[in-house]
Amino acid sequence: MSNKLWAGRFTQPTDAFVEEFTASINFDQRLYRYDILGSVTHAGMLARQGIIADNEAETIIQGLNEILAEIEEGKFVFSVAREDIHMNIEARLIEKIGPVGGKLHTARSRNDQVALDVRLYLRDEVDAIAKALRQMQSALLAQAEVNLDVIMPGYTHLQTAQPVLFSHHMLAYVEMLARDAGRLHDLRRRLNLMPLGAGALAGTTFPIDREWVAGQLGFAGVTRNSLDSVSDRDFALEFCSFASIMMMHLSRLSEELILWSSADFAFIELSDGFCTGSSIMPQKKNPDVPELVRGKTGRVYGNLVSLLTLMKSLPLAYNKDMQEDKEPLFDTIDTVRGSLKVFAEMIAKMAVNPERMRIAAARGFSTATDVADYLVRKGLPFRNAHEVVGKTVRYCVENGKDIPELSLEEFQQFSTAIDADIFDHVTLEASVNARKATGGTARSAVEKELVLARQALEES
Ligand code: ARG
Repeated sequence: MSNKLWAGRFTQPTDAFVEEFTASINFDQRLYRYDILGSVTHAGMLARQGIIADNEAETIIQGLNEILAEIEEGKFVFSVAREDIHMNIEARLIEKIGPVGGKLHTARSRNDQVALDVRLYLRDEVDAIAKALRQMQSALLAQAEVNLDVIMPGYTHLQTAQPVLFSHHMLAYVEMLARDAGRLHDLRRRLNLMPLGAGALAGTTFPIDREWVAGQLGFAGVTRNSLDSVSDRDFALEFCSFASIMMMHLSRLSEELILWSSADFAFIELSDGFCTGSSIMPQKKNPDVPELVRGKTGRVYGNLVSLLTLMKSLPLAYNKDMQEDKEPLFDTIDTVRGSLKVFAEMIAKMAVNPERMRIAAARGFSTATDVADYLVRKGLPFRNAHEVVGKTVRYCVENGKDIPELSLEEFQQFSTAIDADIFDHVTLEASVNARKATGGTARSAVEKELVLARQALEES
């Protein structure tokens, strides 16, 4: 009545819609390479342990390799009736090599098989994403390196606060992405454990060698509890958490790029290849790429919440609910990879406008704190200095002047502690370069961080 691998217990065929509804083949087929790799290794282990004969393992492995070629050449017919990638491949194997193919699933369950496949797949994706992150950091660093003389306004509350180096601003994102890379590295350690051997949930009655399988597949070790092995999806959750935080960083950068490329700021120009026009307003050049990345951040958060919600009430061990882990995970991977790829290229091609940044940096009394710090060095308590400069700024506002434009006499109305050397402290360069302590925006401090960031990137 049915060619289902589990049909033995059943007297009636699966309802046609239920078959479609419960199938995962449409999305889990992307695991094929890892499913076959896991099966080839498993068959090798079964033979090594004398659980199946050597020639049986050889036939199975050859059949699996042929199936791999069929899939890669686009000749494999994926079937919803065969539910998922595991049964599509196993059924095809039996079709090709006969009943001996049925020995492959000895000492194994789809529950530990799928846990293995997803770990193997995610491990490769994590490595690819780590590389993409490095490329993104490198693009930011390159912008920081070539624009070392560019001064821009630093903001708090999006109000002009103090001048900073544009390079310093770029390095802030390098720093964020370095933490992201650290999280990725960290989650990879917990991901890189081999779950096969858990069977359906309780382990297996066969004398398997899990450590050998783990070694063959490049895992650092084996998982330690069969129930947990088949019901743990922490690795997917950790990945989606990493991705959410990383996308939050890209989204913040997106927001800044969108502001900076507006006519009102005009701090940067994104290259034409990363923008689109308006169908009605001929003058428009829209920053679609950063807008879309900012938007996609929402779906990555959504995927994390989906997964957390999916897992929160599941009793041990495997539950079919867990098949729903794949689409959010895969979508997150695709979104993160796409976003990093497009961003690295866009940042590399971004043009900066030093003049516009400089004009903006000089506005808004951005060196007021420098006057206060000057007074502190002359002996005033900081709170008094703050008061003096507050009054000075009010005077400037009322008289339509900027701080560096005041005469010495005007300065001295507010404090006699002010001398002619005040003018050495209120330029943009002086303000920036005075902030020399580690992590500050002084050119000397930023140069040091640029070197360190480059080194760290090359060593990672
Ligand atoms: N397609 C299933 C999944 O992704 C594979 C495991 C199925 N196991 C089971 N007992 N039905 O979760």
